[in-house]
Amino acid sequence: GRVDFSGVWRFREMLPFFRTDDDIVTIGEGRTMLQQADLLARQLGMKPGTTLLQYEGLNPSGSFKDNGMTAAFTHAKMVGAKKVACASTGNTSASLAMFASLSEIQGVVFIGSGKIAFGKLSQALDYGALTLQITGDFDDCLRRVRQIAVDVPKLGIYLMNSVNPFRLEGQKSIMYRVLEARGWEPPDWVIVPGGNMGNCSAFGKAFAEMRELGLIKKVPRLAVINAAGANTLHRLYNEQGVRWNGGKYDTQKVGAHYTWMNEQNWQAHTVASAIEIGRPVNLPKALRALDVMDGVVREVSDEEILEARALVGRYGFGCEPASGASVAGLQKLLAEQVISPSDTVVCILTGHELKDPNVTVKYHTGIDMKSVQDLAPKVEPHGKLSNR
Ligand code: F0G
Repeated sequence: GRVDFSGVWRFREMLPFFRTDDDIVTIGEGRTMLQQADLLARQLGMKPGTTLLQYEGLNPSGSFKDNGMTAAFTHAKMVGAKKVACASTGNTSASLAMFASLSEIQGVVFIGSGKIAFGKLSQALDYGALTLQITGDFDDCLRRVRQIAVDVPKLGIYLMNSVNPFRLEGQKSIMYRVLEARGWEPPDWVIVPGGNMGNCSAFGKAFAEMRELGLIKKVPRLAVINAAGANTLHRLYNEQGVRWNGGKYDTQKVGAHYTWMNEQNWQAHTVASAIEIGRPVNLPKALRALDVMDGVVREVSDEEILEARALVGRYGFGCEPASGASVAGLQKLLAEQVISPSDTVVCILTGHELKDPNVTVKYHTGIDMKSVQDLAPKVEPHGKLSNR
């Protein structure tokens, strides 16, 4: 039925918080695929059959967020929320807006000023969410939205960011689908971009539970990839040595780092606007996931992200810049010989190619498009647009 059509709720035994199937809010999310990307593997120097792309851009709103949003909306309806809100770098807001419009709940989204890709902004507007631009970045937006979404019974505003644990319940299903596509044989590695760290946290929880239930023999290793300009996890994990440590992670070190960031007026900055986040709220959960999955953290430069994204465009289904970080991370870990060419590796492609077309056009032509008119001077009779 309706619920079994969903790539999330097919696994509803693993999301046991709803009462009956009638509670479930679904728009056909999670019907995504694991692509064996042999042409890409050849480019990267991986063996054939090893390099797998989990294309979450195939979701209804074009990103992995729909996996989590279906679960959070299900819970929001159960508790009678009338309004839902989020801070977003774009994909959460697009997904929230789509689910809100289809379930007749008012959506409210907070966007940092000038910090959103065109495709994502157009979705929030088109689906009818109240779209508020805030002076500041994602971290400022999240602080604001957490202030207004404190009291569901009184204000009726329900928070849809990944601090919401139901979001992460839904996002576990990405890992179930990866395993299902492989006949429940875990890969050696899962590589995912890290922004607010909800996705990697969900993956860690999925594997902790599956291991506890005896459903899998092996837990894959996790690689969380930061953009170098938004590398708080990398700094804490690799430079400061902060570890989960059975839940007793070093909060003083973390606090001192945030104080240092404040003193420097340190701002996240990366071409991958989706992961331009300085203060990831799911840091503790991400540390736990890294512990469960014997994880590593790496940072990749904007240039590495753009090159990797273009490789996925050329030899995969394409993806948005943040997703390119997964493949850039694979390249880095392969060069470091942490990953070997015969390891099976699943790179999560978190968002659709068409989310951020400006970055792609700029990569190929060198033109920073504000409108299509900007291309006109370049188009002499039969002029070649691509510099590449
Ligand atoms: N990739 C894409 C395409 C994203 O949109 C995001 C997060 C991430 C990766 C990082 O995932 O936060 O779970 O570590 N986007 C959020 C948003 C922040 O507002 O759309 P994460």
